[in-house]
Amino acid sequence: MKLPITRHHFVMPVLSLILGISALSCAGIAFAQSKANEKFPDRPISLIVPFAAGGPTDIVARLIAVPMGKSLGETVIVENVLGAGGTVAATKVAKAKPDGYTLFIYHIGMATAPALHDKLAYDPMKDFEYIGQVVDVPMVLLARKDFPPNNLKELIAYLKKNGNKVTMANAGPGAVSQLCGLVFMDAIGVKLTTIPYKGTGPAFNDLLGGQVDLLCDQTTQTLPFIKSDKVKTYGVTTPKRLASLPNVPTLDEGGLKGFDVKVWHGIYAPKGTPAPIMKKLNTALKVALSDPAIKARMDESSIDIVPMAKVSEPGLKDHLEKEINRWGPLIRKANIPD
Ligand code: MLT
Repeated sequence: MKLPITRHHFVMPVLSLILGISALSCAGIAFAQSKANEKFPDRPISLIVPFAAGGPTDIVARLIAVPMGKSLGETVIVENVLGAGGTVAATKVAKAKPDGYTLFIYHIGMATAPALHDKLAYDPMKDFEYIGQVVDVPMVLLARKDFPPNNLKELIAYLKKNGNKVTMANAGPGAVSQLCGLVFMDAIGVKLTTIPYKGTGPAFNDLLGGQVDLLCDQTTQTLPFIKSDKVKTYGVTTPKRLASLPNVPTLDEGGLKGFDVKVWHGIYAPKGTPAPIMKKLNTALKVALSDPAIKARMDESSIDIVPMAKVSEPGLKDHLEKEINRWGPLIRKANIPD
């Protein structure tokens, strides 16, 4: 007897075939991904720095790139992507392939950018994975060597008289040098002429050369020049004096009560970077930060390596969220132009 052939007889086997193929291809993709995770890294990794070479962020990046690379068995290459206080680089990383080969080091600017820029092409809390915090860096208020005031009291009096003629360098909107300058100007009630650069590396060179008057910069690149009197130093931005500069008062001691600016840094990867790769990157960062030679170099510049608990996803992500909530309202209130 011949059975009737219905649509069902065609549809079911075809459907099973399609489902079978797609299950196989999903398994294939998962297998390829797990192989890629296992092999990671098998080529150099790029660590993007959002400011100019030779500046504080660049110096920290180059210091940790070497031991991180050693631990991973591949070179970590530092790449400087400049512009808009770090947000050009952040945009590039947010859109990069999430395969672990593009990493990003950014400081407190990751938290201040959303309030500073009307249109930001990325969301710091949604478009990244968080490898960990790295270091905390104090800042110092500096002037060119032949700038007339000799201490903070004289500086404030001088700026109240000559403010509009005085230039203060910074590394652009969202840079911590800009933030420190804004807090300083607000504290003394004087508006200075600000000069933006693409990083405090070039800004500091111009301070040394006498082309600009003032700069608030991190200790990372400035300490040897402070110690050898190549610049004038008015105070450190932290509530306590620094072990490396015991004779330099804090700005708080000098009369700017409550002045407290410190720069934290984190390392990020694009959203979607696989968890096994994130784990390898986090381990490499911990190894780098535990290296005694790195610790000694950081100590020389009064840079604090963060406690290991902060070298973690929650250690960075939670801190970033708190910092966005801390700076956002202050920046919006200050009405800083984009
Ligand atoms: C730099 O590396 O040039 C600085 O971190 C810039 C800044 O934020 O002041």
